[in-house]
Amino acid sequence: MASTILEMQNITKLFPGVKALDNVSVKVEEGEIHDLVGENGAGKSTLMNILSGIYPYGTYEGKIIFQGKECRFKSIRDSERKGIVIIHQEFALIPLLSIAENMYLGNERAKSKVIDWNRTHNDANENIKKVGLSEDSSMLIKDISVGKQCKHKCKKRRGSWFFRYHGSREDRVCHECIWQILWQRYNRYYHKRWQRNSA
Ligand SMILES: Nc1ncnc2c1ncn2[C@@H]1O[C@H](COP(=O)(O)OP(=O)(O)OP(=O)(O)O)[C@@H](O)[C@H]1O
Ligand SMILES: [Mg+2]
Repeated sequence: MASTILEMQNITKLFPGVKALDNVSVKVEEGEIHDLVGENGAGKSTLMNILSGIYPYGTYEGKIIFQGKECRFKSIRDSERKGIVIIHQEFALIPLLSIAENMYLGNERAKSKVIDWNRTHNDANENIKKVGLSEDSSMLIKDISVGKQCKHKCKKRRGSWFFRYHGSREDRVCHECIWQILWQRYNRYYHKRWQRNSA
């Protein structure tokens, strides 16, 4: 039986003069894919910003329970360590850096505080193949298309789970890339479950 992986309970978030979220609760079971839908200003970004620690514990009311434990994230780093990763509407890739440099920005492959470029490029090339692309990891981000940038952005994030939200400005190719990756993960999850159950 699937277990609950994430619960956000009774989340309320106030900004000066605005109640962005009013007692919102969300429950996600392992292996599920959800869509968070709402009109402009409904509070989608705010909810995801709370989940990822952009709005840290103490700035909202309610509880986040991830993998059975209450989480009190102080920053994005805290949530990423747990494997919660947000792919934002706006790209945050640096055009003049390579695919590999972008992929491991903030999560550098390093030995004794020195970047291990061989490992960086080997790991990046492996990831690039996994999402069905063929570029070399040393290629600059500015030289690849928006749809492909999107795939690289997904790979930049190493978490086991990612929660995506999008607005009307969303690029269609990008949207498809994300669903392709989610779909791969979904299939992998159910394949593993099936293997476990039939063992
Ligand atoms: N930093 C902020 N300061 C003040 N008010 C804010 C802030 N961020 C969001 N809000 C308000 O909180 C409410 C929810 O906004 P939010 O950005 O979460 O909505 P959304 O569902 O993501 O909208 P969109 O579809 O436009 O991205 C809105 O009324 C918005 O004006
Ligand atoms: Mg938003």
